[in-house]
Amino acid sequence: MSQETNHKGTHLETRIIRERTAAGPHREQVTPLYMASGFTFPDAETARTVYSGEQQGYVYSRWENPNTDELIARLCALEGAEAGITTASGMAAIFSVLAGLLNSGDHILASRSLFGATHQILTTTLPRWGISHTYADSERPDTWADLIRPETRLCLLETPSNPGLTLVDLAQVVALCRTRGVHVVVDNTFATPLGQQPLAWGADLVVHSTTKFLDGQGRTIGGAILGDSFLIKELTQFVRQTGPTLSPFNSWLVSQALETLPLRMERHCANALALAEWLEGRPGVEAVRYPFLPSHPQHELATRQMTSGGGLVTFAVAGGVTGGRRFLNALQMCDIVANLGDVRTTATHPASTTHSGLSEGDRQAVGITPGLIRVSVGLEHIDDIIADIDHALSLSLS
Ligand SMILES: Cc1ncc(COP(=O)(O)O)c(C=O)c1O
Repeated sequence: MSQETNHKGTHLETRIIRERTAAGPHREQVTPLYMASGFTFPDAETARTVYSGEQQGYVYSRWENPNTDELIARLCALEGAEAGITTASGMAAIFSVLAGLLNSGDHILASRSLFGATHQILTTTLPRWGISHTYADSERPDTWADLIRPETRLCLLETPSNPGLTLVDLAQVVALCRTRGVHVVVDNTFATPLGQQPLAWGADLVVHSTTKFLDGQGRTIGGAILGDSFLIKELTQFVRQTGPTLSPFNSWLVSQALETLPLRMERHCANALALAEWLEGRPGVEAVRYPFLPSHPQHELATRQMTSGGGLVTFAVAGGVTGGRRFLNALQMCDIVANLGDVRTTATHPASTTHSGLSEGDRQAVGITPGLIRVSVGLEHIDDIIADIDHALSLSLS
C-alpha cells in the first residue's frame, strides 16, 4: 500500500533500495518507523469503508503497517512474488502456511531433510489435528509419485536443507505436483532469493526465516510467506485472525537490511566456497559439503538450480560428539550460536543443539553425523576465518 511507483529501476539491486513506502509530509529520505498500533480515521464513514476494504488505508498493525508493507514489497521484488505476508518468525511462516491451508484429513508430502522445528510440527503438532505426512528421499524425486495420495494437498521442501545441505530438484517436484493439484511450498532460507528463485521454477509459495541472511546482522526474529496471490489472500485472513504479526520495528530493520543483501550475499558465498575448498582433504576433516563444491553429490543440480552456493558449509570432525564439541570450544573468533546468516561467522554442533530433538535414527537419515559442524560463513576476511578454524581443528585433534 502507498508505495511510490516511479523511478524504481529495472535491476534487482536498484529495486530493493528504491521500493519504499511513500515519504510523509517531512519528505524524509529514509522510511521512518511507524510505531503505531492503530491508525485514525477522519470520520466514521471513512472508518467503515477502510475497515470493510472498500477504500485503501491502514487500520491496525496486526493487519497492516507501512513498515511491514515496505518489507513485503521488497521481498516480493526479490522473489518475483505476486504477494506476501510477513510473520513474527520463520516458524510462524511455516506453521501459518500449514495451518492456514490444510484441513483435518489432509496429507503433506515433505522432503526428509528439514529444519528441526519444522520436522516437529509435522510429527507432533499436526497429527493432533488429523493432518498426516510422509517423508520422501530429498535426492530421489523420481520415487515420489507413488507417495502422493488422493488427500495430499501440499508438498513441503527445504533446499538446500539445514544442516545437511541436501538439495531437491524443484523442476522435477513441481512437474509431479502440478498435474495432481498439490501445492509446492519451498523453504528458501538457506539459498536466499539471490541464490535461488523457487517461484520461477513453478513453486506456489516460498517461506523464509528473515532472521537469517535477510536481516543478516543477528538482530531480529522474523519470517515471510511469498508467492501466488490467491493463496496469499487466503493466508492473509488466517494470519490477521491468529496474529503472528511481524512488529513494525523488526520490519523496519529487515527492510533496511535488504538494501545491502546483494553485496552481503556475494561475500558470504565467496567466503563459504573458499572455506569449503580449504577444508576439503584436511587431516581430521571428513565429508565437507557445499553445494558449489564439485564433490557435492548434487553439484550438477546445484549449478542448474542455484546461482550461488549460499553461506553455509558443513563438515564432520573426527571423534564424533566429543570431537565436535572440542572443536567448538577451541574456536577463538567464530561464535558458537544456534543462529546463522550473520555478518559474523558462527558455528554450531547440530546433533547436540538445533537437531537434538530428533531421534538418533532421524538424524542419521538426514546426514547429521555425531561430529557434524555447521559453519555459517560471515563477512570477516577469509584468511581470519580460515586461521580460526585451522587453529580449532589442530587443537581438537591433539
Ligand atoms: C531452514 C530454516 N527454516 C526455518 C527456520 C526457523 O526460523 P525462525 O528461527 O526465524 O523461526 C530456520 C531456523 O534456523 C531454518 O534454518
